[in-house]
Amino acid sequence: MSTSTSATDLKAIVKEGYDAIAPKYHSWAAPRLTQKRTEYIERLGKSLPKGSKVLELGCGAGLPATQQLVDQGFEVLGVDISSSQLTLAKEHVPRAQFMQGDMTAIEFEKGSFNAVMAFYSLFHLPRDEHGPMLKKMVDWLKPGGWLLFNLHTDEKDHMRDDWMGVKMFSTGLGIEGNRRMLVEYGAGLIDVEDVIDKEFVGRFEENFHWICAKKSF
Ligand SMILES: C[S@@+](CC[C@H](N)C(=O)[O-])C[C@H]1O[C@@H](n2cnc3c(N)ncnc32)[C@H](O)[C@@H]1O
Repeated sequence: MSTSTSATDLKAIVKEGYDAIAPKYHSWAAPRLTQKRTEYIERLGKSLPKGSKVLELGCGAGLPATQQLVDQGFEVLGVDISSSQLTLAKEHVPRAQFMQGDMTAIEFEKGSFNAVMAFYSLFHLPRDEHGPMLKKMVDWLKPGGWLLFNLHTDEKDHMRDDWMGVKMFSTGLGIEGNRRMLVEYGAGLIDVEDVIDKEFVGRFEENFHWICAKKSF
């Protein structure tokens, strides 16, 4: 970490930030075009049988992604560190299950899910936790299961004092750093798709690094 703030404090900043702005963030994020995410979830819907168990890490307020996953016929468990985000998610997507917690601290049996995904959430973890989190995600997948997530493309800590009115932290390992992490912590992944995609975030265009892969049998 290039910042001197502890991992616990970084997570408190993220949790308190989303707790404070959940409805405001939702009004901004829900209508936002996230073509890649929509396309990937549609693909999952065609590839996995209905009733497949899907874990969504950092599910936020549940719209549109959690709802889209439920609409594909999946049994979805959404996890989020922010209780305010989860209050909204439970209202928005009553057919999904939700759990509050830090994604790095929760435990599941190996092979519990047909798909594990994280949209715009892993980059809120301190950077030395990205790799170990990826390993857990792979462990939680059933053989043949799908992994899907996105990351920042720059190698940089972002500590913002006023992001939608709150303090907020996110970070990135850079594109090559993300790729090295996949090699180091992604043992057992096959058919890895590695895509850099530009999208509008507010008024600005930003790149995200999308990874979609399967777990070998
Ligand atoms: C940018 S929002 C994205 C929400 C949703 N995935 C979406 O695509 O709209 C990031 C979410 O990740 C959650 N989050 C951040 N750090 C987390 C952690 N350590 N464990 C669980 N959730 C976390 C935040 O509370 C927030 O709801």
